[in-house]
Parts: sequence; structure tokens; C-alpha cells
Amino acid sequence: SGFSMDECIKIPDDFKGYPISQFCIPKHYEDDLECVIIPKGFVLDRTERLARDIFQNIDLTKPTAALCVLKGGYQFFNDLIHFLKQLNANTNRSCQLSIDFIRLKSYSDDQSTGTVRVIGGDDLSNLRGKNVLIVEDMIDTGRTMTKLLSVLEQYKPHTVNVASLLVKRTSRSVGYRPDYIGFEVPDHFLIGYALDYNEYFRDLNHIAILSSKAKEKYSSANI
Ligand code: HPA
Ligand code: MG
Repeated sequence: SGFSMDECIKIPDDFKGYPISQFCIPKHYEDDLECVIIPKGFVLDRTERLARDIFQNIDLTKPTAALCVLKGGYQFFNDLIHFLKQLNANTNRSCQLSIDFIRLKSYSDDQSTGTVRVIGGDDLSNLRGKNVLIVEDMIDTGRTMTKLLSVLEQYKPHTVNVASLLVKRTSRSVGYRPDYIGFEVPDHFLIGYALDYNEYFRDLNHIAILSSKAKEKYSSANI
């Protein structure tokens, strides 16, 4: 991969978040959230800027394949593509975009199992010779992304860049840093804006901290 942008918005470890009573939260999740940590509007404003940075650095000599890592990445992917299309339509440079999906499995409850499997998505031979932009919701340990990058190598993309909305500050990190980062976040389990806990909370607009009671309530042992 090419250059690296290490500047992003850093949410400090002692950030208390915003009370959920000040936001529109689905009733079925009212008792499950510690606080809102990144409201959706803030995510969108940051995503618009990431799209601009990506667009500025994109290599126009080859088509770009935007690769969405499902399912958690779909919301960020959709919003990022929206802004990239806006730049394509309104500036005199433009990049030809194709849309691809990949589905990986690596989590049960909040623990990384250490294994990553490709369990679905498009034929990755579509990526050959293209500038691949991987779009992911979160880098936690970094294991999933380093594994995905090694899987993609065999499909001979021209370049590979990674945009992750969130990067967790955690001692479990293998040290991997994506090329584009929306926010660096404290080591809490985050849900909402398509991030899930055992498939729950994808239907929440804002990024929030899961309460420890909810971890229990929605644990795979209890559902
Ligand atoms: N939230 C949701 N999914 C995740 C997280 C998280 O904090 N970390 C790794 N996968
Ligand atoms: Mg993910």
C-alpha cells in the first residue's frame, strides 16, 4: 500500500461520551448503552473529509474497486461512496469506481477467535490490476485486516489501500495502521452505525458504548 495518513480524530480514553437521553435511540436499546460516543452526524462530517483525502490521492490511471467488508462496514461504505460520487460528479478529475463486497467471520461475543475466514462476497478476481480500496468499520487487534491483505495479494491488485472508520487503541493490537482513519477510539466495545454485538445494534444510528449488562444480555450463550 502507498502513503499513510497518521492524522485522525482521537477520542481520549477519559471521554465520558454523551447521555443517551439526549438522542433518539430505539426503545429496545434504551437500557443497553453506556453513552453515545460518536453521533451519526459527526461520523458523516468526518467521512466527507476522508472521501476528499482519498479522492485527492487516488491513482486515476487505473480503475478503483471499492471493497466493502460486510456486514459492519456497510454503513460507512455507503456514506463514503456517496461522498466519492459527489466528488466524481462535481470536479474535473474523476475515478471510475466499481463496488465489491466481502464477508469475513472472526468474532463471537467480543473476543477475537484468532481465525479469519472469507465466508462470502464477490469473486475477488475482479480486483486484478485495480486500485483496491478496502472499506472497514473497525480495526481492533488488526488481525482481520492483516489476514485480508494477505488473502488479496494472490489476486494481483495494482494497489491496496485501507480506510477504516475506527481504530481501537488497545494493547492487543498487532500494530497495523490503515491508510485512512476516521477516529481513534478507546478500548471499549462499540456498537451502532452497522457495528454489532452478536448481530444486535446494527439498527442504531449513533456509535455507542455497550453496557456490561447488555454484554451479558445479548451474549451468544444467552440467546
Ligand atoms: N464493536 C463491534 N465489533 C467489533 C469491535 C467493537 O468494538 N471490535 C472488534 N469487532
Ligand atoms: Mg468489521
